[in-house]
Formats: sequence, C-alpha cells, structure tokens
Amino acid sequence: MKPVRAVTLWWVLLLASRLGATRKESLEEAFYYGTFPLGFTWGVGSSAFQTEGAWDQDGKGPSIWDTFTHSRKGNVLGEETADVACNGYYKVQEDVALLRELHVSHYRFSLSWPRLLPTGVRADGVNKKGIQFYSDFIDALLNSNITPIVTLHHWDLPQLLQGNYGGWQNVSAASYFSDYASLCFEAFGDRVKHWVTFSDPRTMAEKGYETGHHAPGLKLHGTGLYQAAHHVIKAHAQAWHSYNNTWRSKQQGLVGISLNCDWGEPVDITNPKDIEAAERYLQFCLGWFANPIYAGDYPQVMKDHIGRKSAEQGLDMSRLPVFSLQEKSYIKGTSDFLGLGHFTTRYITERNYPARQGPSYQNDRDLVELVDPNWPDLGSKWLHSVPWGFRRLLNFAQTQYGNPPIYVTENGASQKLHCTQLCDEWRIQYLKGYTNEMLKAIKDGANIKGYTSWSLLDKFEWERGYSDRYGFYYVDFNKKNRPRYPKASVEYYKKIITANGFPNPREVESWYLKALETCSINNQMLAAEPFLSYMQIMTEIMVPTVCTLCILIAAVLLMLLLRSLS
Ligand SMILES: *[C@@H]1O[C@H](CO)[C@@H](O)[C@H](O)[C@H]1NC(C)=O
Ligand SMILES: *[C@@H]1O[C@H](CO)[C@@H](O)[C@H](O)[C@H]1NC(C)=O
Repeated sequence: MKPVRAVTLWWVLLLASRLGATRKESLEEAFYYGTFPLGFTWGVGSSAFQTEGAWDQDGKGPSIWDTFTHSRKGNVLGEETADVACNGYYKVQEDVALLRELHVSHYRFSLSWPRLLPTGVRADGVNKKGIQFYSDFIDALLNSNITPIVTLHHWDLPQLLQGNYGGWQNVSAASYFSDYASLCFEAFGDRVKHWVTFSDPRTMAEKGYETGHHAPGLKLHGTGLYQAAHHVIKAHAQAWHSYNNTWRSKQQGLVGISLNCDWGEPVDITNPKDIEAAERYLQFCLGWFANPIYAGDYPQVMKDHIGRKSAEQGLDMSRLPVFSLQEKSYIKGTSDFLGLGHFTTRYITERNYPARQGPSYQNDRDLVELVDPNWPDLGSKWLHSVPWGFRRLLNFAQTQYGNPPIYVTENGASQKLHCTQLCDEWRIQYLKGYTNEMLKAIKDGANIKGYTSWSLLDKFEWERGYSDRYGFYYVDFNKKNRPRYPKASVEYYKKIITANGFPNPREVESWYLKALETCSINNQMLAAEPFLSYMQIMTEIMVPTVCTLCILIAAVLLMLLLRSLS
C-alpha cells in the first residue's frame, strides 16, 4: 500500500501515447459468465488492531501500534488511535450475525499477540482472558457454520519485544514468534484448521523499517527492511516446522503465509528493459518472500541488484542478508498454501538510479511505477480498479511457485468520499470485476481455493486513520457503541456467494439493481438516525419525568384531600 512516486506529466503523456487502443482491448477481455468449482470458499477479512479496540483491557499488553498511535507526532492522519476502533472486542455476537447475513463460508481475522502474551514472551506468562476471548469467538463462528482462517501476526508486535530487543531487527523475534504460534496451535488448533503466519510482511518491513510510515517508525534505508524480512521468513519457517512436527498429525490443518502484491505490467511490451523492470518489480514484491519459501532462496535478481549496489556504495557485504545452506533447506517447502493479497496494478518502466544516491529499496529496484490516468480511482489515492491485473498476478503465482493451492486472503476497495455513504457502487463494480478475473484465472488453470474480500467493517486504516472505508458495513465512528450499517455491496456479495459465481447476464444485472434499491432504503434509515436517536432521548427523559410528575401531583392531591377531611 504505497503512494505512486514521481508520476510526472511527461510520464503520463508517454504512457498514454504508448498504450494504443488495441493494447487496451487485449487487456480488458469480455465478462465471463460461469460458476466457481464446487467447494470454493467465500469470505471476508479483518485484523485485530484495526477492529478490536479494548487496547488495554483484560490484561492485554501494548503493541508497537499502540505506541505509534499514542505518540501523536503526526504518525496518523487526524492523530487518530485504535483504542476503541470498531469496538469489536465487545461486539462478537453482533459481528458474527453480520457474517451470517453475508452468507460467507469463512472469516479471516488475526489474533493480537500482546492480548495473548502481554510481553510477547511465552515464558513471561499467558493472558487467560485473551485465550478465552478468542476461544469464544472461534466457537461462535463454528456454531454459525463459518470456518475461521486465523492470522497469527498482522503487524501488532508486542511493544516490549520492540523496546527491549529491537523487534524484527533481532533474529530472536523468530523464536518468540514460534513460541507464540505454538501456544495458538495448542489452544485453538482443535478447531482452527487454516493458519496464516504473517499478513503482508512486505508492507510491514517496508513501512515499518524503511519509510517509517508504520510502527515502529524506523527509517533504516536500504538495510532495516531486508533484516526484518529475513527474520520474518525464518519465523514463518520455524512456526511451520513446529506445526508439522508437533500438531499436524493430531490437528490435520494447514499453515501458510499471506503475501500482498500489486501486478506490475511493462509500459512497453516490446521493450526488453521494461519487461525486465516489471519482472523485477514482482520479484522484489512477491518473490522476496515467496521465493525462499517455495525455492529456498531470495530471487536471483534481488541478490544481483542489491549486491551490486552495495558494492558500489563501498560495502564489503550485500545489504541483503544471506541464508546458509542449512537455512535454505529448512525454509524451502514451508507453506501448505499460498495466501495472496492484491489490490491494484502499476505500469512499470526501467530507471537506473545511481548507487551514490545512497541505499534504499527504491534505489535497489531501478524502476518507476506509473498509473494510467484512465483507470478508475477509488477512495485511497494509490488504489485504481484494474481487474485484469489480478488474473495476471494469479497466473504468475501459479507458474512461479509450482501451482500451489492459493487462497486469496485480501482483495477490496475503499469507497470514494463523495459517494453516498451506503451506496458503494464503485466497490460493487470492483468486486464484480476482480472476482470475475479470478474466475478466468481458475479457467486458465490456477488452483484457487477461496476468496477473502477486504473487509467486513470500515476500520482503522493504519496511517490513514478512519479516512479510508473498506467495509461491507459502514461504521459510525462518532457514536460511542460504533453502530454498523450494511452498504449496497452486502446485498451484491451475498448474491455472488449464493450463486457461487455469475450464472447469466439477466440474473447478474438484477443483482445490481436490487443492491442499489436496498441501499437507498438503508441510506434513508441512516439519514433518519439523528431524528430517531432524538426520539429515543425524548422517551428516555420524558417517560420518567412524566411519571415523577404524576406521582408528585397525586401526592399533593392526596395531601389536600386529607387536609380538607380533617
Ligand atoms: C536480541 O535479543 C536478545 C534476547 O532474545 C537480547 O539478548 C539481545 O541483546 C538482542 N540484541 C539486540 C541488538 O538488541
Ligand atoms: C513434516 O512431518 C512429517 C511427519 O512427521 C515428516 O515425515 C516430514 O518430513 C516433515 N516435513 C518436513 C519438511 O520436515
């Protein structure tokens, strides 16, 4: 999730001239009517820090994101925190009811490491109330026939691991993570059969240790992110082995990782330099983590580029850490499925940055990311709707990593601000376009098992605060109990799920009309809300007041009566 860098007018013009009408038509194929394989699983996702709130309740320890948001140094838009967020910690039954309403077959969510282990270290003690909370939540899902897909770590590292040991900069984080993972397998593995170790570790490393836009806010250009990623990969492998050795025979579950990547399309498909640059974009993004896990080492192009730049910068070792032979074989093959997160596409062209500019991820990649001005933009400024890129990424993953089972773990769009709150037409178009391209990728041969739309609720969007709304359900963050309201896309997604795809044009068209009809009713409801709550306050005040007055008047009358009698 990054802003596009350096999109100058010149580049935009160049892009427009290079992309003829014919190119466009070949990228945007016709809509495909058909259904998904039997047993394909549909769901929605979220993460602990973005939704739970209750940041210091029931024994939870602080995470690096609590520290980052509380420091109020302009880290987050509007200085927002996630202290309450969606208040999800107190709304389990309500949120499970929303999931039932959506007809999803799975729900992907993350556990808060510091809620379970307040210091991050298992030997320091387990928070029983944290175990109870997630245990009850998992039971509530299973009682509603919803399969839990559980992420162990979605960026909210226990603060003490950061403060005392340097967080992911320190290889010891891998063992702490593995101990934490074992605790989760032990406590929940009888019921949870789908585990995701890390969610989008690339963004965690890049924004947390390179740009500093995310917690822990470090700017260790060109070194910090590679160190962090190196230790995350080891941590993932250690957790997978622990599951394989100790729990798999009893629990029969799957352990994978979730990697996010946008598609990178060469600006000029006849120019080998652009083709190489686009390939490099993908290897520095997806391959960085997927290659060690599927092939035992970092992509060759990363080793080459970072090694060469490091030498030119006068270093005697590459800034990209090296796996030993033993580590390579330990890491290779440690994923039972590939989790893929995907949101948008970029055009890529080569640009050689001089090494003397100093080390950075951007400098190492030697490329520029561009967007087509004609792509529809959505609520977040980096996010454009480019459905065809999704199919290409899925096909790329299929061929690069030996046709692994793929779960789409994140895909979705935020709503444009000026749109009516609940009528999220753009999100419906995005959902329809992207799921249709996924269906085409399955026809192409990709082994896609399930799809997770992002996200169940509007929630805390990291450095963007509450400004970007990704939810199927609109959340009113101004109200104390954070009420939820269905957007039009709830109705639409429900229809895709029930039909398991797109049966025919007539039916699919009717879904859209129905969804917009529902949302205009809901919008009226939301608009009437201030009036209704006014009425509610009135009754809350009026009824007791009138009663009290009646009693008083009765008492006075009685007194007068008694007096006149005597
Ligand atoms: C790394 O963590 C260990 C504890 O696991 C600690 O002893 C060591 O000092 C840490 N290293 C750094 C550089 O913080
Ligand atoms: C996973 O566990 C099985 C059963 O114990 C074992 O045979 C296999 O070698 C393990 N896989 C790896 C890669 O360690």
